[in-house]
Amino acid sequence: MAELAHANWARRGPGRTDATAQFLVREGGATGFADGTFDAVVCNRLFHHFREPSIRVAVLSEFRRICCGRIFVSFFNSFALDAVRFRMKHWLRGTTPTDRIPIPMSDFAADIRAAGLRVLSTSPIAWGLSPMWYVELCDASV
Ligand SMILES: C[S@@+](CC[C@H](N)C(=O)[O-])C[C@H]1O[C@@H](n2cnc3c(N)ncnc32)[C@H](O)[C@@H]1O
Repeated sequence: MAELAHANWARRGPGRTDATAQFLVREGGATGFADGTFDAVVCNRLFHHFREPSIRVAVLSEFRRICCGRIFVSFFNSFALDAVRFRMKHWLRGTTPTDRIPIPMSDFAADIRAAGLRVLSTSPIAWGLSPMWYVELCDASV
């Protein structure tokens, strides 16, 4: 995917060259970038894969370390009809979900605080229907 994205960038980006963008694959909790490397971090559709709060906190902490500005992340909020459908489906099948699990905003807010960040704004994609929410964050000390 990174190679395709890079090829698309080089082909379609108006006036852009390879020097203007890099496409790298890194572990979210240990990116290897220096402190404050980025003006912003945007993380789309990753946090709903992390069932353990400790992993969410580790990745959020890493984002805080490498970013000197705003951080935007998505997560699956359990306050949504689709989240109820998700729970019902597993209940009826007798299965335990292991991935894409919606969590309460209060749980994610606790992870955010534990990572030394604070919430600036929240944006639901389809309030009450879709679990997809975006959260804008900054360093709690700022
Ligand atoms: C649902 S996809 C989203 C991809 C892309 N961000 C988008 O919105 O289309 C989740 C991505 O997160 C990556 N991923 C999962 N765990 C990760 C981790 N610990 N560190 C970095 N990437 C991870 C997966 O390889 C996958 O590409």
